[in-house]
Amino acid sequence: MKILAVNGSPRGRKSNTQRILEAFLKGALAAGAEAETVLLSEKTINPCQGCFACWVKTPGKCIQKDDMGEILLKAWRCDLLIFASPLYVDCVSAQLKTFMDRMLPGLLPSFIKINNVWRHPLRAGTPPKVGVICNSGYPQLEHFQVVQHLFERVVLNLHTELVMEIYRPGGEVLRAKNPLLKPLIMKYKHLLERAGKEVVKNGRLSKKLKEQLRSDIIPPDIYIKNANTYWSKQLNKSQDKE
Ligand SMILES: Cc1cc2nc3c(=O)[nH]c(=O)nc-3n(C[C@H](O)[C@H](O)[C@H](O)COP(=O)(O)O)c2cc1C
Repeated sequence: MKILAVNGSPRGRKSNTQRILEAFLKGALAAGAEAETVLLSEKTINPCQGCFACWVKTPGKCIQKDDMGEILLKAWRCDLLIFASPLYVDCVSAQLKTFMDRMLPGLLPSFIKINNVWRHPLRAGTPPKVGVICNSGYPQLEHFQVVQHLFERVVLNLHTELVMEIYRPGGEVLRAKNPLLKPLIMKYKHLLERAGKEVVKNGRLSKKLKEQLRSDIIPPDIYIKNANTYWSKQLNKSQDKE
């Protein structure tokens, strides 16, 4: 299985998204997959101009000369495309949304109706299966409602299937330095590794593991207490400097 993971966090290599991805891909590689991660924070991908040149003037190609063309080739050739992002304003980051907009050259302009839903046909080939990884600042699963719905629609538009969803509420705990939290974070990373192996072996994430991956790493009230202490300290530090 060839996996392409697209990390849409502006924090890039230091992001919680990357911590989740690395553990997941460690498991996937151990199970025999090939994997590549694209950090959008290190790429130049301009917003879609809405000119539809990729449908008419230069079919299948965007007229913008930036890093998207090369990544897009890889995205359409892999078996599993993972969209990974922090939760921003209840949705994916602008970087990941821009990437998704720029996938338009892969579709044809005509309209077809499949299962009573209008869509654009794929330009060519078999689309990759899709996975989503998203982590939030707030510690409740409810915050992922929009992202969940977004990807249900995205896979319809890409004529494919959503084979894994990993939602991590309270994702900031993953960068905690407190030694007491280390074993809990390790336990979560082991679950992620198992998820990576499972997706490669079975082609999808089981319901059981999906649920386990959603459970709290620490109780939400403790997470919020720690977060409030952290932000008060940051504010005090910054005021001291003034
Ligand atoms: C502009 C902005 C918007 C955010 N919006 C939300 C939000 O709507 N809900 C939420 O739970 N967290 C929100 N967060 C917090 C991030 O999701 C959280 O810090 C996450 O752990 C960052 O992950 P990363 O390190 O992978 O970038 C927001 C953060 C920023 C900077």
